Amino acid sequence: DMGGHDTYMHKEISEQPDAVDRVLRGRIDDRFSTVHLGGLNLDAREARTIRRIKILGCGTSYHAGLIGAGLIEELARIPADAEPASEFRYRNPVVDPDTLYIAVSQSGETYDVLAAVQELKRKGARVLGVVNVVGSAIARETDGGVYVHAGPEVCVVSTKCFTNTVTAFALLALHLGRIRDLSVADGKRIIEGLRRLPGQIQEILKQEDEIKKLAKRYADAKSMMFIGRVRGYPVALEASLKLKEISYIHAEAYPASELKHGPLALIEPSLPTVAIIPNDDLLEKNRAALEEIKARSGRILAVAHQEQEKADHTIVVPKNETELDSILMGIPLQIFAYHTALALGRDIDKPRNLAKSVTVE
Ligand code: M6R
Repeated sequence: DMGGHDTYMHKEISEQPDAVDRVLRGRIDDRFSTVHLGGLNLDAREARTIRRIKILGCGTSYHAGLIGAGLIEELARIPADAEPASEFRYRNPVVDPDTLYIAVSQSGETYDVLAAVQELKRKGARVLGVVNVVGSAIARETDGGVYVHAGPEVCVVSTKCFTNTVTAFALLALHLGRIRDLSVADGKRIIEGLRRLPGQIQEILKQEDEIKKLAKRYADAKSMMFIGRVRGYPVALEASLKLKEISYIHAEAYPASELKHGPLALIEPSLPTVAIIPNDDLLEKNRAALEEIKARSGRILAVAHQEQEKADHTIVVPKNETELDSILMGIPLQIFAYHTALALGRDIDKPRNLAKSVTVE
């Protein structure tokens, strides 16, 4: 049942305010400015002994894991990184007893992720899951974890699950942070930020008509470049994947800082750039990248907290706490990918060559 929407993707994009509300519900503890995660299975004493966190997933879930790693480093100051699960499992990884492993999967059935979990468990590691489907294979194989409560996602391309997974990582990062060195004041600040998310997502959804117009303008591109820095880079990766999957337009994502190390050679009027530009400490550096692109006559679509002078068009998104900004910045680009694909007449819910869950190697 599409509930009045033309596609599941559109329905699922629209459901995000409610979905985010669900991942937060019942978990916030205002008294201690933290969150409770019932299924984590990791007590405070154990949480304090973690030396490193390694996050494993595929596709969109890997991108959510990259944002999750950033959140964990920022809020809990635990070294963290993310890696595609398949790469991890085929490189005979060094499994370290002080590392906490986290498997991320919407379906909980992705074979490469499941196999990585099984290999880790065989070597005695502790593995948690950040999973959407309750009772799925990965949920069952892990020692505990956080359900993302996005509700069923039917469209092959992931939208609301990405947003909820990243929000679930923010909860986990806050929880670990408050057990370690994150202050009460910062805990409170993040909680207030989390509570603002559903309303702010609603604000973004209201811009659909304008985003649709932009999508039509860029739909003739043969290729697109997506750039961001630090918090913005995984957002660029995810937005470029979304565009590729449903519009079949070739897209690349690069850290903005890497442009001059090669990809700048591609920039010319027929290759538009989508730039993720939050108002954070890297704003000026990001603006410099826009100048470099403009100097080569590249078209620029910015996703930012304020109108960007150097950009041809800016989608302005509401500002949250700096740490949480990446949760919101990908949403307009889901809508952008959707309307680009629609303008090109693509089969949005069932893109060619792809399956909803990849249960083979
Ligand atoms: O169910 P999972 O989260 O484990 O799926 C992982 C990827 O196959 C999935 O995210 C894929 O990249 C989607 N088509 C993204 O839109």
